[in-house]
Amino acid sequence: MRKSIVAGNWKMNGSRSLVNEFFTLMDGVNKQAVEVVICPPACFISDFQGVDFALGGQTMSELDNGAHTGDISAEMLLELGCRYVIVGHSERREDHGETNDMVAAKAAKALAAGLTPIICVGESLQTREAGELESFIAAQLDALTATLSASQLAQAVIAYEPIWAIGTGKTASPEQAQQVHAFIRSHLAAFDSNAAASLPLLYGGSVNSANAQELFAQTDIDGGLIGGASLKVDEFRKVCQAAG
Ligand code: G3P
Repeated sequence: MRKSIVAGNWKMNGSRSLVNEFFTLMDGVNKQAVEVVICPPACFISDFQGVDFALGGQTMSELDNGAHTGDISAEMLLELGCRYVIVGHSERREDHGETNDMVAAKAAKALAAGLTPIICVGESLQTREAGELESFIAAQLDALTATLSASQLAQAVIAYEPIWAIGTGKTASPEQAQQVHAFIRSHLAAFDSNAAASLPLLYGGSVNSANAQELFAQTDIDGGLIGGASLKVDEFRKVCQAAG
């Protein structure tokens, strides 16, 4: 039975006053049914101490601690109380030139330190319309299986985030999302069937309280990676309740 996970990716948003609003997030959420994670900007992680949900980073370096200005390591995220870290978000691939191999190295480093990586994959509208969706996603997955062992992969989480659905209000239909999730699971099964079967696959891209239930009801969708809707505590609570 795969774990149901709903993770909020605050991106470069938020404030200490917004953090305080989230201390009641889990009121009315079934903690046994869904694992809730908040991934705030790193500067606010310490302000969440004592909350009854999990915390995550939005990125981390694949390098060892040392002379890497502006970076943060898996060990530092662990020390701040994080159990998860997002790696390979499309916005970091775009803004910071993160390649498939760099993302795989980040995931390996996270797992080695004891963090659970939420590894993002997803295509642009141009790639989808060119009929290159599966080859593009397969290349992102193959970089992971070339780096991680089967047991490491089984400890990770993968988030499918079609770039054309991020922040646009154009959510993938449940059928579109399920189709790609099923492809991801079947492609990984060729590497290791047990890992592929046990791996939580999250959907991200304009998820909200109105569409979450139908998306999360799909066979291969095990929860969501939520952007804008995770910044409003009542809305995010409803999305978490839809998964539990
Ligand atoms: O990482 C989640 C994010 O990319 C989705 O953003 O605002 O479309 O929910 P949003």
